[in-house]
Amino acid sequence: MFNSKYPLIQAPMAGGISTPKLAAAVCKAGGVGFLAGGYKTTSALKEEIEQLQKQQPGVFGVNLFVPEEEGNYDLKQYEERIKSTAVTLQEEIGVPRYHDDEWKDKLMLLANHPVPLVSFTFGCPEKNVIRTLQKKGTVVIVTITTPKEAKLAAEAGADALCLQGIEAGGHRGSFNNQEGKEEDYGILELIDLVKKQSSLPLIAAGGIMDKDGVEVVLNAGASAVQIGTAFLCCKESGANSTYKKALLNKTYKETAITRAFTGRRARGLANTFLLSHTDSAPAAYPHVHYMTQPLRKKAAKQGEANYLSLWAGIGHNKVKECSAQEIVRSLMM
Ligand SMILES: Cc1cc2nc3c(=O)[nH]c(=O)nc-3n(C[C@H](O)[C@H](O)[C@H](O)COP(=O)(O)O)c2cc1C
Repeated sequence: MFNSKYPLIQAPMAGGISTPKLAAAVCKAGGVGFLAGGYKTTSALKEEIEQLQKQQPGVFGVNLFVPEEEGNYDLKQYEERIKSTAVTLQEEIGVPRYHDDEWKDKLMLLANHPVPLVSFTFGCPEKNVIRTLQKKGTVVIVTITTPKEAKLAAEAGADALCLQGIEAGGHRGSFNNQEGKEEDYGILELIDLVKKQSSLPLIAAGGIMDKDGVEVVLNAGASAVQIGTAFLCCKESGANSTYKKALLNKTYKETAITRAFTGRRARGLANTFLLSHTDSAPAAYPHVHYMTQPLRKKAAKQGEANYLSLWAGIGHNKVKECSAQEIVRSLMM
């Protein structure tokens, strides 16, 4: 679909997981590697792009978070709730704040240093943003979680849609993070509904862990797959060892969707922090992300998987420790 050998995209995974090394290995194996621009500074992202380009990867992409409107939240109650974790870890809770993830600078970077593919999550950029990138030869993908979002992305001029089913690991790409407005679809239902309203190429994401899973979504009408969780424990993944161990040792049986770690809904392994705070976590992104950031960092260092965001999709039990190339092969051959 994107001039790659296989219709397989390695999901951008923010938080240091989708390293240039991982993206390069996936490209080399015949898939499409992706860099995650979210949470990173513009200059760090530029460096990663240059690092990857040096390895002549062919088709690769960069993913950006579309910023939310700046909100004002009273987070005192939530701070009280998570205090016990701070005490356990002997760490301070971070100061909640708004940040637009250097949106304009990152767009400028991608306009001045065009890359083959750019995907967006957490919203749909304005038409002129999409058009500017397309004029530079970049293919623009917008992540959607509902048929309504698919319609908005198509109207804004996206070249392709990444359909994220409820099965997916990590943050939901929903355009809206408002409480009470949550709307979720399984990947097959989403493909079916979006196919009826759009002729754009569809990339299916969520819970795809093996060749059978790939075949099911391609047969349902997707042109390609986007896969995250299956790559988490490969040797090129930048996931920290506490995270990898929890996945490989199958420490947690279930995943669940929570706002507890960042204030935005995301699917992760159901550990103590997630189970304790999902019910009370406010829809305050990225404020809650900054509150829990020092706790998560400390937990990772101390090997305390119970207080770390362990993003993973429903297929987490099938995660293997091998090379990215072996994963691409197991999915495609
Ligand atoms: C650890 C992790 C981090 C993620 N970070 C991003 C991100 O930065 N941008 C994005 O568009 N999607 C992100 N996702 C979601 C993926 O793009 C994709 O929808 C998901 O991984 C597919 O489901 P699967 O994990 O079951 O394969 C992330 C997923 C995981 C597991």
